[in-house]
Amino acid sequence: MPDSQQRGAVLVTGSTGGIGAATVAALRRRGFTVYGGVRQTSRDSTTREVLLDVADPESVAAAAKQLAEEVGGLRAVVNNAGVIVQGPIELVPADEWRRQLEVNTLGPASVVREFLPLVRAGAGRIINVSAPTGRVAFPLLGALSVSKAGLEALSNALRLELAAWGIPVVVVEPGSTATAIFTKAGVAEQEARGRLDADRVALYRPHLDAYAKAADRFKPGPVEKVADVIVRAVEARRPKRRYTVGDARTLGAILTRLPAGLRDKAVTSALGLNGLKA
Ligand SMILES: NC(=O)c1ccc[n+]([C@@H]2O[C@H](COP(=O)([O-])OP(=O)(O)OC[C@H]3O[C@@H](n4cnc5c(N)ncnc54)[C@H](OP(=O)(O)O)[C@@H]3O)[C@@H](O)[C@H]2O)c1
Repeated sequence: MPDSQQRGAVLVTGSTGGIGAATVAALRRRGFTVYGGVRQTSRDSTTREVLLDVADPESVAAAAKQLAEEVGGLRAVVNNAGVIVQGPIELVPADEWRRQLEVNTLGPASVVREFLPLVRAGAGRIINVSAPTGRVAFPLLGALSVSKAGLEALSNALRLELAAWGIPVVVVEPGSTATAIFTKAGVAEQEARGRLDADRVALYRPHLDAYAKAADRFKPGPVEKVADVIVRAVEARRPKRRYTVGDARTLGAILTRLPAGLRDKAVTSALGLNGLKA
């Protein structure tokens, strides 16, 4: 294994989360020097931490400045930080919409803007962690779908802009993965719902109950599988535009190829929402 100096440095945003922490560990095992973006430093962390709140452009700029003092260039930036804002679109308050887009879409845009000089200097690449909802919008996950569709568009435009420097832009699309993201989304949804008119919430009770039942049937895969694929995207000499992991493979392969009518039926029935009448 080459030494970490030779393998280069990688920045992973959202490094305290399930996929982020597994990715940091996997990259370190492969000999990379890994910088983990965190919103709060922890005293006993063995990771090289960088304070980086992706929703705050000033924090992103300060993190880029800090790294420029420590490394000559970056082998990869992994835009992994993300949140889920869930619930019917009619029930998502404006501040929750903003949080969803600021973390999942505008965050990566800020990170790209501030870190590209280091990526260029390190002949590196950009890796964006998307989701199947970026390609197929899911009901009750409308805000998330908008944010990841935005990230997909950002990735596609950026890939063409950076081709002149030979900087690859890669999308990694995990399927359902066992992390705390769903619990956090549920807590935030309950908090937001407490601020809404109870009668309007009641309108969606059948949708919400059906979705909760369908969600119980999901079998989230292990974080290590996603981390291994991100490592592959970092190491590949000529990385693919997209790497799918776990059930994203079937979702990507099947749902995106169906005619719109059939796709709507498949998604509605997968989430248990077929046959609902108001
Ligand atoms: N889990 C899945 O099923 C799944 C499926 C497809 C795609 N993904 C994508 O995978 C990525 C990682 O998700 P995960 O499942 O590992 O979730 P997770 O365990 O909840 O981790 C999310 C990470 O993002 C960080 N984060 C949140 N807001 C941030 C902000 N404003 N600035 C910087 N960091 C912030 C969190 O930091 P704090 O600890 O400070 O909150 C945490 O480190 C996300 O982009 C997600 O959309 C996940």
